[in-house]
Amino acid sequence: MNSPNTSSDASPALPRIAVLATGGTIAGAAPDATSTAGYQAGALGVNFLVDAVPALASIARVDAEQLASIDSKDLALPLWNALVARIDALAADDAIDGIVITHGTDTLEETAYALHLTVKHDKPVVLTAAMRPATALSSDGPLNLLNAVTVAAHPGSRGQGVLVAFNNKIHCARDVVKTSTYAVDAFHSPELGVLGWVQDGRVEFARRATRPHTRDSQLAIGNAWPAVEIVTSYAGVSRTAVDAFVAAGVRGLVVAGTGNGSIHATLQAALAEAAKRGVAVVRASRVGSGHVMKNGAANDDALGFVSAGSLNPFKARVLLMLALANGVTSRDALQAIFDTY
Ligand code: SIN
Repeated sequence: MNSPNTSSDASPALPRIAVLATGGTIAGAAPDATSTAGYQAGALGVNFLVDAVPALASIARVDAEQLASIDSKDLALPLWNALVARIDALAADDAIDGIVITHGTDTLEETAYALHLTVKHDKPVVLTAAMRPATALSSDGPLNLLNAVTVAAHPGSRGQGVLVAFNNKIHCARDVVKTSTYAVDAFHSPELGVLGWVQDGRVEFARRATRPHTRDSQLAIGNAWPAVEIVTSYAGVSRTAVDAFVAAGVRGLVVAGTGNGSIHATLQAALAEAAKRGVAVVRASRVGSGHVMKNGAANDDALGFVSAGSLNPFKARVLLMLALANGVTSRDALQAIFDTY
């Protein structure tokens, strides 16, 4: 990872916003302007992204920094350590008012939630991305970047945890999920809805996140990430994946169950054995929205499982990794973590 700094100075009276680039379609380059699927993510540097939005100069002084240049499908967990370290260092600088992270859409919801639980300050941290590469006709990246900087520069964003600004909407990192493979309106917060909106330089919040985050989170980023994998329940599923993961020494398994987190009897038996052997088992749903009720579709107390509540399997995995990394291991303590965060 390299970190060349560039600073575009507008007026010193404007807020100073750090833009950390990590790659993604927002920095993607295609062979021609009509390609929106065949492109290389993360090909363009952060200066290209900032220079494409001259209007940024009227809302903030932007410090642009390249932290990574990846397709976020290939994200490796040490990038989260690097992001938390850089965000907390920038936030400790009195001159910085907020931080924007440009990211790929594919794993944005996981990064956003990991940061929401582990950065330790109140300054705005806003992730954004794009569905169309920077070289495309009607690329959505420039407006998303402008809106993300607008949100990061807004005093009302302070203390709201990590935010996602995408397609004029402001989402809470805990709630937001990617819901489309192609649409520019690709992110939604299915159960609780958006936190607010950003349009034409105006920011409006309709609600606040209610669960603890950032400074109020007991979870810190660790240097070692416990092995936690995801298995899915479906018609005719076997126990092969669970047995292989347990034999490989995983610390935790998240199951993407059917419906209200129900699990095929074959898979459930394998997971119950895993739980007896000390593997943390979290029950989520593959449905895409809703809430997995504790002791509902499976008897969590009898089976030794934890209910993920409204977290999807990918976010549940983030929380389980962080809980285990912070020394939370018993079933009841893990359930308390899931009930809290
Ligand atoms: C990525 O996630 O890096 C590529 C896809 C995207 O940003 O939309």
